[in-house]
Amino acid sequence: MLFKKKKEEVRSIDPSNLPRHIGVIMDGNGRWAKNRHLPRSAGHKAGADTFEKIVKYCDKIGIKAITAYAFSTENWNRPKAEVDNLMELLYNYLQMAEEKFAGTNIILRVIGDRSALSEKINKAIDHAIEITNGNTGIILNMALNYGGQDEIVRAARIAAEAVKNGEMTPEEITKEFLDKNMYTGDNPPVDLIIRPSGELRLSNFLLWQSAYAELWYSDINWPDFSEKDMERAIIDYQKRNRRFGKV
Ligand code: IPE
Ligand code: IPE
Ligand code: MG
Repeated sequence: MLFKKKKEEVRSIDPSNLPRHIGVIMDGNGRWAKNRHLPRSAGHKAGADTFEKIVKYCDKIGIKAITAYAFSTENWNRPKAEVDNLMELLYNYLQMAEEKFAGTNIILRVIGDRSALSEKINKAIDHAIEITNGNTGIILNMALNYGGQDEIVRAARIAAEAVKNGEMTPEEITKEFLDKNMYTGDNPPVDLIIRPSGELRLSNFLLWQSAYAELWYSDINWPDFSEKDMERAIIDYQKRNRRFGKV
């Protein structure tokens, strides 16, 4: 009897076929904490540590951009104590920007509606962005008070304003125009979206950009997500056949 030889497992990343831009929905902090009988805040703290680790790893392997979903437009609906805790965590992280970004080549950006964030946080964001200004490595988009629907509405309003002011015609509102007016307009296209924690939904993340992104999910809660898991996601991505509607 003939036995077909099992196809050899691909065990390492092919550097010539990296996803250019990865979106990560950093979910499962609460469940991680619950499993350990810890407060949700401990989960968010652990999630923040994972975030730093994964961004550095992505920069190291040559990913051009990463968008990390840190706070959605819907997350305001959580209990005030949790929202306050998340904002405090964010502020503390930004306060340590010198230390956090020293020796890295990360370019920090923030996407989302910053007008709802406190002045204190906005100042800290500006300062942190300034620190990474001269860097040339990975673009790190922190999605804060970010919603994909809001982002599309914002782009539509930019187009409407331009038409109203006679700067363009309605026919000039194209996919390319809207694409450029997303927060990620000058980033490489989003090739891969990762959602840990077992949920199978986008939760208002990168709705426009996900049109042809590859989706990858895992049951691991975000605080437990490791470099190895990111490697696994990229290897899986490299096995996908991206057809873009063609045969
Ligand atoms: C993600 O973890 C963090 C934010 C949404 C800010 P969650 O807090 O949503 O964790 P789960 O989904 O309750 O486990
Ligand atoms: C998505 O997670 C938002 C972030 C990770 C920042 P959620 O926990 O808010 O998503 P849902 O509510 O489960 O869809
Ligand atoms: Mg969640």
